Amino acid sequence: MALSATKLLRSNLFSSAKLVGTLSLHSKYLNTGDSYNFIKVEKKGAKNNVALIYLNRPDALNALNDGIISDLTIALDDAQKDDDIGAIIITGSGRAFAAGADIKEMENKTFQECMKSGFLDHWNSVAKCTKPTIAAVNGFALGGGCELAMMCDIILASDKAKFGQPEIKLGTIPGAGGTQRLTRVVGKSLAMEMVLTGDHISANEALAAGLASKVYPADDLLNKAIKTAENIASKSKLIVAMAKDAVNTAYETTLAEGIKFEKKIFYATFATDDRKEGMTAFVNKREAEFKDQ
Ligand code: HXC
Repeated sequence: MALSATKLLRSNLFSSAKLVGTLSLHSKYLNTGDSYNFIKVEKKGAKNNVALIYLNRPDALNALNDGIISDLTIALDDAQKDDDIGAIIITGSGRAFAAGADIKEMENKTFQECMKSGFLDHWNSVAKCTKPTIAAVNGFALGGGCELAMMCDIILASDKAKFGQPEIKLGTIPGAGGTQRLTRVVGKSLAMEMVLTGDHISANEALAAGLASKVYPADDLLNKAIKTAENIASKSKLIVAMAKDAVNTAYETTLAEGIKFEKKIFYATFATDDRKEGMTAFVNKREAEFKDQ
């Protein structure tokens, strides 16, 4: 099937720009429909304020090749620029969330190539996104797939989800945060067990370990993820971004520094219209109307 002009332009842009520098082709609004090769993007929610991104290589269990990461980076950047979007969901098509980085793409790579090309350098677009992100983990989240889920702010799992860092079986180790984020979230013992054996854990084990915040029946996962995203999107986008920044700081700094940072951000909310609106609405027993100001 021939690629659409937009797709071609976008894929050419990525192969030449290599995701370094500014991407001038970005629209102000989130592109949906047929704009991508390896993902599908829809706007969801009663107010169309939720971006739903499907990783879409179901025959390869959504293995994360360069193209899928490039598409994802563009979609996230567009979602960031789209003022209507208040939350972003990433999910998988078919029976996987993502079964890891594409092993076929990595098989013949050399150390020198990894160094020279900055392999994986552009993988952290999800972690860098300032809008709230939800991983709706519908099936396998392995290797880079588990790492991608952990880059999101919230992990909601289907009862069919499986999480794992199986890189050890391939003679390598996690390379997109698996040894770091997993350890901070589930603690040393379980992280070591997962990283050193490569064994998977179930959705309920992920829930018990704090890796996932909820487990839902598979056929209800997306509905629940959209409801959660709509709930977040109904708040002030400005304050949500500040709250996200404050929580993320807990992973980056000492408790004392984190508490100081939180206090500053808390004070800063008093410089916003939305803080005033939220409190005035409460006092007057009405719904707040946030303007993201
Ligand atoms: C490329 C993959 C793939 C992957 C699955 N496929 N995972 N292709 N890279 N990571 C492809 C298979 O080759 C196969 O294609 C198709 O998807 C279906 O997979 P099967 O193995 O036939 O399915 P099944 O028997 O049900 O087993 C499912 C599975 C298994 C347990 C998830 O596919 C598996 O173990 N996958 C690899 C998981 C893994 O090791 N992930 C870590 C990758 S390394 P064909 O063409 O044969 O039909 C990594 C490093 C991260 O992520 C570093 C930082 C990013």
